[in-house]
Amino acid sequence: MSAPSLAAYKPFQSSPISCIRVSSMPDLKVLLTRDQIAKRVAEMGEEIARDYRGQSIVFVGVLKGAAVFLSDLARHVPLEATFDFIGVSSYGNRPTPKEDPAGHAAWDSLGEVRVTKDMDNSLADRNVILVEDILDTGLTLNYISKLVQAHQPKSLRIAALLDKPSRRKQPIQAQYIGFTIPDAYVVGYGLDYAERYRNLPDICVIENP
Ligand code: IMP
Ligand code: MG
Repeated sequence: MSAPSLAAYKPFQSSPISCIRVSSMPDLKVLLTRDQIAKRVAEMGEEIARDYRGQSIVFVGVLKGAAVFLSDLARHVPLEATFDFIGVSSYGNRPTPKEDPAGHAAWDSLGEVRVTKDMDNSLADRNVILVEDILDTGLTLNYISKLVQAHQPKSLRIAALLDKPSRRKQPIQAQYIGFTIPDAYVVGYGLDYAERYRNLPDICVIENP
């Protein structure tokens, strides 16, 4: 099943009903509610379960953003499965345009991917599903896919909760995509801005960070 476009969902809600708000926080607008996320993640899990029926899977989560998505997704896949995690740092604590003399936008990829935690187990001969929070420029998943391919897995597929195709710099094919979203910076449900907001239950657009 292809990823539903955002138009199929309720547009931005003007008053965030569920994002935690404290005075120091910038404006957060709910883009995807926890109910929309839960429904779609369940559908993705069912699709994976159908595709891999009778086989076992290794879910490889990309830390830290995919941790929340992986834990929900895997519980909708009633097959023999194990977890592994790879840690990468591609953005660090992103500077705002004002602070960055090079003028990168707040969420611009600096084009560098650094492994901060390698996978624990060999993926040789395994069905690997790389689980990522968001597919943006494609640099991170391209890099990680090559690392995984070097293990000579039996198969490799990608599950990304969000996809921002308008930002792509390197082509990458994800077989399971939750939502296609416009070019906005989003936080919540594992996604961060400078390590914050990962614990928001909804996915929110962050404005004026
Ligand atoms: P890519 O290498 O540009 O595809 O970036 C992928 C990574 O960038 C994701 O795993 C996220 O960690 C981060 N990222 C990209 N867009 C966003 C966003 O809108 N919010 C939070 N993190 C993002
Ligand atoms: Mg990430």
